[in-house]
Amino acid sequence: MSNYHIKHLEEYFQVYRKSVQNPEGFWEEVAEEHFLWRKRWDRVLSWDFTKPEIKWFEGAKLNITENCIDRHLVTRAKKTAIIFEPNSPDEPAQHITYRELYERVCKLANVLKSKGISKGDRVCIYLPMIPELAVSILACARIGAIHSVVFAGFSSNALSTRINDSECKMVITTDGSYRGSKTIDLKGIVDTALEDCSCVETVLVAKRIHSGINMKEGRDLWLAPLLDAAGTDCEPEIMDAEDPLFILYTSGSTGKPKGMVHTIAGYMVFIAYTFKNIFQYREEDVYWCTADIGWITGHSYIIYGPLCNGATSIMFEGIPSYPDFGRFWEVIAKHKVNQFYTAPTAIRALAKEGVKYLEKHDLSSIKVLGSVGEPINEEAWHWYDDNVGKKKAPIVDTWWQTETGGIMISPIAFATPTKPTYATLPFIGIQPALMDENGNEILGNQVDGRLCIKFPWPSIARTIWGDHQRYKDTYFSAYENKYFTGDGALRDEVGYYRITGRVDDVIIVSGHNLGTAPIEDTINEHPAVAESAIVGIPHDVKGNALYGFVTLKDTGETRNQDNLRKEINELITEQIGPIAKLDKIQFTSALPKTRSGKIMRRILRKIACRDTANLGDTSTLLDPEVVQEIKDNVL
Ligand code: WTA
Repeated sequence: MSNYHIKHLEEYFQVYRKSVQNPEGFWEEVAEEHFLWRKRWDRVLSWDFTKPEIKWFEGAKLNITENCIDRHLVTRAKKTAIIFEPNSPDEPAQHITYRELYERVCKLANVLKSKGISKGDRVCIYLPMIPELAVSILACARIGAIHSVVFAGFSSNALSTRINDSECKMVITTDGSYRGSKTIDLKGIVDTALEDCSCVETVLVAKRIHSGINMKEGRDLWLAPLLDAAGTDCEPEIMDAEDPLFILYTSGSTGKPKGMVHTIAGYMVFIAYTFKNIFQYREEDVYWCTADIGWITGHSYIIYGPLCNGATSIMFEGIPSYPDFGRFWEVIAKHKVNQFYTAPTAIRALAKEGVKYLEKHDLSSIKVLGSVGEPINEEAWHWYDDNVGKKKAPIVDTWWQTETGGIMISPIAFATPTKPTYATLPFIGIQPALMDENGNEILGNQVDGRLCIKFPWPSIARTIWGDHQRYKDTYFSAYENKYFTGDGALRDEVGYYRITGRVDDVIIVSGHNLGTAPIEDTINEHPAVAESAIVGIPHDVKGNALYGFVTLKDTGETRNQDNLRKEINELITEQIGPIAKLDKIQFTSALPKTRSGKIMRRILRKIACRDTANLGDTSTLLDPEVVQEIKDNVL
């Protein structure tokens, strides 16, 4: 018997040891006993980080939707797979059983096929958190099409870049979405995006807000009548273990977004196994992850992980502050949520409101709390522990990335003693290493360094869509034979890890990764702007906020600075999305640069954070006076 369900710390250590000493044997056992395969693998693992090439369960054949849905129909047909909790508390929740999910997925899969989508084709899904989003993802997987979900908060420009990068043939969207008291014209955004995309042949439109929208003849189709006419069974496409399952874009520190490619079998095994253990999910539990499915957390821990385990998973369309700051607590009480998984930025926003909203609701169902997306600060950790978990629910602070597919460092609920702000111990099969700046591994405890992983795990992304070289350069070139995460971390006296944050030019704002370069490129497109630099400054709710230093072109005329600030933020909203707007914009006569012309962000970061006592080495600066001027005018 494999150790599918770990319950004690001793057991964790024992299983961890086994997973590191014999990774192939360990993962083979897990895969064999807990999943449905159409054909067994020929080889468990082959890997070479220098190429890089990683293959798990090569030769195996399967369909992930058989694992997420079909196999549960024997014993869980009437069990709720997904609870849809709408934006408005006045709209009733929907309970979608495994049987209903099967039929809805098969119907949509049949529609996709009838519109010419087949194995390997890319389908862009641009939907809010409504059931059609889960169904679309699974329908793609059913027929072997590769889904590329784009977060529905991205602008038309960001959407078209992503559609073109992976040459999607189809877009699935809606007539609009609800967000708190507002509605958003998603179809309008798609229409604008598609002006620049010649690859898209069909747009399927789900009805959500019943607004009057434009339907382009020959391209746009309402989804409902197509589904009504479609059959309720669809044979799953039998896929190879290493066929791509999905592409999900993540920001890099430079250049265009990276389309991370995840393949089927290894991803499935690792996501299911992490979900079961870290959250200690039990058969009758109700689990709620508040992330948007447009991000990896939603892919892995709203859809694939829970469904692979036959779980009941909540999909929430709304926001934490609508109709008031008690909404999360109301939903927990209403559905008797047992595992609650959210982000530090949400915890901080809710903590700010005090406990008055919490006290109105019965949170006694909660057994486990989770955190993800950025380091959780001590204050937020304690607030969460004291008020939401009432000191009885362990907090699993889960560190991982879009690229890692699943959770990498985290407590296992009830087994690993927690420690505020620490992600604690590597999960089963994960071999972390801290590296110094010279490329040497730092051994021992009470040390800090750059976080790498030494050995492949089943759900590591296999490449960047269309750019394998960039995959190699970004993740496998900084340290020989290791995957570099881009994060810094420290290891305490007992071997617990604490993630200290990004060491590259990615800034995490409200849990969203933002690369500085794409934002700077956008600002520089403004006709009055000569150049710009973005840094992160601490923010008590968002974790980080963006601070921009902007040098204007010398045109002789003077412009109203507040108007310029507004225009710059409008441009960012249009090109990237509102999440990338700057909190502060300081106009500068020049930016501090090295003699070789590189902007010294380190100095700008310190100035913006008002930490100027020690600016570090400024000897390479071209023009030290610029620094003084910027310091004098800091906002
Ligand atoms: C950060 C989200 C500290 C980290 C799953 C990582 C965290 C980046 C944590 C990936 C955590 C995520 N503690 N930092 N528990 N979880 N991060 O790709 O910097 O959206 O590299 O994946 O978020 O963000 P991504």
